Amino acid sequence: MSDVVNPIKYEKGVCLVLNQLLLPTETEYRVRSNVKEMYIAIKDMELRGAPLIGISAAYGLYFAARDAKCQEFDGWIKEVEKEGEYLISSRPTAVNLEWAVKHMIKFAYSLKSRTLQEIVKEMEKEAVKIHFEDGEICKQIGVNALELIKPNMTLLTHCNAGILATSRYGTATSVMYVAKERGIPLKIFADETRPYLQGARLTAYELFASGLDVTLNCDNMAGFLMSQGKIDLVITGADRIAANGDTANKIGTLSLAILCKHFNIPFYIAAPISTIDIATPTGKEIVIEERSSLEVTHWYGKQIAPTGIKVYNPAFDVTPSDLIHGIITEKGIIRPKYVKNIAKIFK
Ligand code: MRU
Repeated sequence: MSDVVNPIKYEKGVCLVLNQLLLPTETEYRVRSNVKEMYIAIKDMELRGAPLIGISAAYGLYFAARDAKCQEFDGWIKEVEKEGEYLISSRPTAVNLEWAVKHMIKFAYSLKSRTLQEIVKEMEKEAVKIHFEDGEICKQIGVNALELIKPNMTLLTHCNAGILATSRYGTATSVMYVAKERGIPLKIFADETRPYLQGARLTAYELFASGLDVTLNCDNMAGFLMSQGKIDLVITGADRIAANGDTANKIGTLSLAILCKHFNIPFYIAAPISTIDIATPTGKEIVIEERSSLEVTHWYGKQIAPTGIKVYNPAFDVTPSDLIHGIITEKGIIRPKYVKNIAKIFK
């Protein structure tokens, strides 16, 4: 069910990355086999979505470890750490990137007594493990979300928090795939997600290809859909969740959460525990990526706004935790009061 698309494959020292810039009309895998190539794939959004960025960063760090020149541990780990910083600089908001890099470096330190060749081999296995476990974690998120679902409900989601943003199942979409596997009928609306159109190009694509009942809507239609009683539940993903539950996700998520409050519709976030950044106390401290004005002024290469117009293009917004009914994770649904309930998980 959740294997209709596969955003990243790994074999013998090489990643094949599905070039998401060409979806939904073309399927092209690109070879990414060193840290620089992985940096470019993340920065240029060939691959995107917080968990997938984390998986790719883990492979990127393995490539850096394998290709580092120094032959003794202290010099070698310095080289690897430098490449880790380089990878982290590719995109600022998704915490899974930093999480994966730090995890791989800590893992390398834990093997310090072994030969460099052995450490590199183990790092390769660790990256593969992160990749595999992400699929398991995502499936569990879907299973845990089943308690929110009744047959024939209509869900709305924003951006792509699907298979294409993870390794399998997705986060926000996981319950949709799990419901389908269990024969529970659901209807789904997918926001197109301006300006980068992840909803239209990716979410609509993968749900449709998987045989789910999905309808595409423009972002500015969500309020009207809700006013017509057409939406029962909203679930989105997350790029970084602060220790108090404030959540950074694709631009437009905040507006949806506010609409949900107005129309009394439950609003949930679905994300792995690795998306929670316990070191960031509130959403105010989350760095929001600003992207090129061309994403707003141009449409597939065609200019659609006046030459020289001022543009503001933040890629994410922050939804305050008091608008969030729950955070669906692989360990269960975290409910308010978030400061206390998130801290419990990290004890
Ligand atoms: O800029 P992107 O495409 O990397 O952003 C992805 C998102 O914001 C998604 O909404 C998603 O929820 C986070 S990853 C599951």
